[in-house]
Amino acid sequence: MNSRSGTNPVSGKPGGSLPVVPRNFSQKRMQREHAELLALVEQMDQIILNQEPPERLTVCFQEFCFHIKSHFEDEEQLMKQYAYPGLETHRVLHHRFWSFYCRPYADLEFENVARLSRSQLLQMQDWLQGHARLADGLLWTWLARHLKTENK
Ligand SMILES: [Fe+2]
Ligand SMILES: [Fe+2]
Repeated sequence: MNSRSGTNPVSGKPGGSLPVVPRNFSQKRMQREHAELLALVEQMDQIILNQEPPERLTVCFQEFCFHIKSHFEDEEQLMKQYAYPGLETHRVLHHRFWSFYCRPYADLEFENVARLSRSQLLQMQDWLQGHARLADGLLWTWLARHLKTENK
């Protein structure tokens, strides 16, 4: 970890090393994951539109749920690690998305994914775009101000 003299912005103690956002948590990686999640939503929309076999929708939706869960967990770990003041609010937003859009299917072993509608997919797309721009945007602005980042 790099160090720099001055006050540690997280601990507030003088002379501590300045934390660095680890490379595996780069903003670029998170933005790439957002794009991948949005691509999966688009893919599911096409599957419904083209009336493809329902198994294809199930596989795609499972992949989406798996990826978004791990994306949320990574972001929450990052916020916790650096004592981000908006952690709890941000975690609630993630929890609401998961509870509303993923859990009803995940709890039933994804047997009911055929019920997923194009309007739900549109809502998921809107949420993801807004969340990435606003809540995640705030997080990265805060990190850039408070920590030395390796991956600008
Ligand atoms: Fe995100
Ligand atoms: Fe987030």
